Amino acid sequence: MISRTAKRQTKTKSASRYSPIRGGFPRRIQNPENRENTKRKTVLITGATSGFGAAMARRFAQAGWGVIATGRRTERLRALVDELGTETITPAPFDVRDVDAINATLSSLPEAFRGIDVLINNAGLALGTAPAPETRLDDWLRMIETNVTGLVTLTHRLLPTLIERKGLIVNLSSVAATYPYPGGNVYGATKAFVRQFSLGLRSDLHGTGVRVTSIEPGLAKTEFTLVRTGGDEAASDALYKGADPLTAEDIANVVCWIASLPPHVNINRLELMPVSQSWAGFQVYHDHVPRRAMSRHEADAAALESSSVELNEWRNQVATKPDTVKTHGGSRAWLARIGLNAKARDLHDRQSG
Ligand SMILES: NC(=O)c1ccc[n+]([C@@H]2O[C@H](COP(=O)([O-])OP(=O)(O)OC[C@H]3O[C@@H](n4cnc5c(N)ncnc54)[C@H](OP(=O)(O)O)[C@@H]3O)[C@@H](O)[C@H]2O)c1
Repeated sequence: MISRTAKRQTKTKSASRYSPIRGGFPRRIQNPENRENTKRKTVLITGATSGFGAAMARRFAQAGWGVIATGRRTERLRALVDELGTETITPAPFDVRDVDAINATLSSLPEAFRGIDVLINNAGLALGTAPAPETRLDDWLRMIETNVTGLVTLTHRLLPTLIERKGLIVNLSSVAATYPYPGGNVYGATKAFVRQFSLGLRSDLHGTGVRVTSIEPGLAKTEFTLVRTGGDEAASDALYKGADPLTAEDIANVVCWIASLPPHVNINRLELMPVSQSWAGFQVYHDHVPRRAMSRHEADAAALESSSVELNEWRNQVATKPDTVKTHGGSRAWLARIGLNAKARDLHDRQSG
């Protein structure tokens, strides 16, 4: 047991150790110029109006973080603020495809939310499940603009702050980045970009203390499938039914854990699936008709046809010195198709006769 006198001595000792006269007080706590450092940490979460993003906003708020919540549906952001309180969370409504809106919103954040320590690039979507020839180009472009262009725009905008604060970037990729499936086409490609961009950022930010993680979830129940199928509730229910999928809270817990790791630990990639999901085999098409290989003559003729300089010289030769011309075994029809005159076609008959 420590005596009262000893306690008092310890108190006095620690007070004098941090005396401003000795210039030794902990800067983080008392120096007004470093008031910023005494604040709790702040996380910016894109796509906080639904699914993973909304769950992460709640999870980080619960862990004592300040949260900047973004998304297009302002009424949902308002509901989150009502739930968690204005001290904890601030809404930042913008479309990640709108650079001006991003800049304007970030420049007018309330003072208490200005220093961003963690950026969670979560906003994203899949549109459609049709095979490539049946998709709409607009859907492909929207996925690229949201999942790729929006993500890199915001990251670029926040890099100086994140470097200054030795922050963390968490990017939402997907198992679709690694394992292709029919109908995954551009969605999978955007998520492969997100994963590779995350790894590339890690390399570029070497030595800055900034951490970067790519999270790659499998089947998780959110509004994701509703968005993908254009609001088809039956399709969404059928996908998740009996599968015990990951929940938004599962992802929120994992991301909050990553953010709470000591600053010398970086999770590069983290792939997670529900136990009910795993990989299936390759698909094989059994009615495949192979393309007939070209004969040597056809190959020669095709090569000649593709070389217009040679072809012109040959045409010239046919016109001026027909007896010296070789027809390269091209058929009569082919000679006609490439525009050679009757003389050459007669020659062909003689050479092949
Ligand atoms: N659920 C899964 O199975 C799964 C698996 C792997 C990866 N992911 C990825 O995880 C992320 C979150 O998905 P989720 O499952 O939580 O889906 P979700 O419930 O549909 O949420 C998507 C969020 O993204 C936001 N968003 C979409 N387009 C936006 C835009 N142009 N500008 C700003 N915000 C936009 C939405 O907000 P507003 O509509 O309000 O703008 C919404 O908050 C996505 O990147 C997704 O690709 C999901």
